[in-house]
Parts: sequence; structure tokens; C-alpha cells
Amino acid sequence: MRIAVTGREGQVAQSLAERAGTAHEVVLVGRPALDLANAATVLPALAEARPDLIVSAAAYTAVDQAEDEPDLANAVNGSGAGAVAAAAARLGVPVVHLSTDYVFDGAKDGDYVETDPTGPIGAYGASKLAGELAVAAATPHHAILRTAWVYSPFGKNFVRTMLRVAETREELTVVADQHGNPTSALDIADAILHAAPQLVSGRSDVFGVFHLAGTGTTSWAGFARRIFATSAAAGGPSARVRDIVTADYPTRARRPANSRLSSAKFSQTFGWTAPAWQDSTDIVVRRLIG
Ligand SMILES: NC(=O)c1ccc[n+]([C@@H]2O[C@H](COP(=O)([O-])OP(=O)(O)OC[C@H]3O[C@@H](n4cnc5c(N)ncnc54)[C@H](OP(=O)(O)O)[C@@H]3O)[C@@H](O)[C@H]2O)c1
Repeated sequence: MRIAVTGREGQVAQSLAERAGTAHEVVLVGRPALDLANAATVLPALAEARPDLIVSAAAYTAVDQAEDEPDLANAVNGSGAGAVAAAAARLGVPVVHLSTDYVFDGAKDGDYVETDPTGPIGAYGASKLAGELAVAAATPHHAILRTAWVYSPFGKNFVRTMLRVAETREELTVVADQHGNPTSALDIADAILHAAPQLVSGRSDVFGVFHLAGTGTTSWAGFARRIFATSAAAGGPSARVRDIVTADYPTRARRPANSRLSSAKFSQTFGWTAPAWQDSTDIVVRRLIG
């Protein structure tokens, strides 16, 4: 199977390229040939890849910066995502589109399921919700995968930041009142590659919105403690973690307090369940301290 993936250096794009091995051919399609801010570039760039399946993994992901440039975030994550799905429809192939827990306001008590009402509290979440709607309008053959708290051996992410900061600091303060599912992009890649043949087979129940996140939940502080415990045991950098609350760590964009996602629908539909978040974290930490 040939799988065209938008984005070149992104965490999910790089993870798909690595995990596909020789089983599938992954073609990374990114700037300048495909620029989501310039919708006219999308169809020609994807057509050239001659895909059986398109994975829409590129996005404007700078959550705080999006508050200052919502038009660009909307162009990339809204219209750009819609253009990718429209290209999939033109090429007659299904599209897997990555979305986010930030489409929710975080006020729910419990795990979010796919049918819960959306209500983004920031510009990034609003732009990603616009993308979901644009994708669904462009083709019925879509699987929108909402994921969360993504980290990997590639690119910028929380695990990398923690390990870097621990090289020079003995104690770190980390937010303990936001809860979610840390999710390895390597697991996202495995899940997509597992689902790919089912999506291409055209079975109708494989399309729609799905949550896809690591198994189990924690806080950012709990996530940091796991990172440092694993790193210390392997001889890497570690630091003490002191809990703080969101109000003590102001950011440009508000974040949902509850980002917990139930991935039960994905598991039941595709027969794939993510490993426990702790196990996946350990794999990436050990690779990063290498
Ligand atoms: N990171 C998270 O915690 C998180 C959480 C929930 C959902 N998600 C979603 O999961 C998906 C994958 O995230 P990720 O962590 O892999 O993202 P990432 O590492 O930040 O990578 C973003 C990718 O998008 C590409 N991109 C940005 N602007 C573009 C444009 N105008 N045209 C074409 N490509 C553009 C980048 O291109 P270059 O390769 O040129 O840099 C990069 O490949 C995204 O849809 C994101 O919204 C992420």
C-alpha cells in the first residue's frame, strides 16, 4: 500500500515513515510542494504521490502562537485540512485526519467520548474543529482521529523538553491539575498502519470520528515523574518534580483541564488498543537518552 502523509518533519509523519518498514510505502509530502496555507498546492502534490490512502498529519501546532495569528491557524488547520480531504475524494482514496483533544473545553468529569459536544477554548482548538468539519464535508471516506499529549523521538515535545531542562536543573515545577493521556506518535503510527487495510477495503463502519490516545491517564506532573524515573534508571538526566496548578503557570492560550479521551470506539472498530502510557513513555525516554 502507498500511503501519502502530509508533513515532513512532524512527529506523526516521521513515526509513520519509521514504523511502515517494508510493509507499506510511506511518501512524506510537505512544504514547499504542499503548503496547507496555499490550498492550490494540495491536490497536485498529493496526486503525484499516487496514494492508496492519505494521512493528514500536518498542522499548525503552535498552540500559544495561534492566539496571535488565528487567521493562519484557520487557513492551515481549517481550509488546508479540507483541501487535503477534497484531494482524497478527487483521487478516490480514504483520508485519515489527525485532530485533537483541544476541540473540547475540558469541563467534563470523566473520559471524553466521540459524541460529547465540542467547545474549544482557544484559537488552536477552534481551528482544528474547523478542520474536522471541513474534512467531513469534503468526503464521507474519512477517519478523524482525535489524539492528545503527543510525544516521540522526533521533533519538539514534552518528553524532550523535560530531559533537556533536567540537564541543568535539580527541581522543576510542573502543572498537576490538567489530566490527559500521554500518547506516543509511534503508537499513533502503529494504529494507523493497523487500520489502513480496513479503511482501504471500504467497510462503511470504519469511517467517522474516533479518539486515539495512550491507555491510562495522568497529569503533566505525573508524566514528568515517569520520564525522570525511567531516565534516572537508565543513567540519563532527572529532576525532582514539584506540583503546581495551572494558575501558577500562565500561558497565552488556555488549556482544557480535562483532556482524558476514551479510545474504546477505535479499539472496537479496528481491533487495536494502545499500550499503557507508562510503557510507551519508557520506550521513547530510553531512545532519547540513547
Ligand atoms: N503534538 C500534540 O501534542 C498533538 C496533540 C493532539 C493532536 N495533535 C495533532 O496531531 C497531528 C500531528 O501532530 P505532530 O505532533 O506530528 O505535529 P508537529 O510535530 O508539530 O508537526 C507538524 C507538521 O505540520 C507541518 N506543517 C505545518 N504547517 C504547514 C503548512 N502550512 N503546510 C504544510 N505542512 C505544514 C510541519 O511541516 P515541516 O515538516 O515542514 O516542519 C510538520 O511536518 C496534528 O494534526 C496535530 O494537530 C497533536
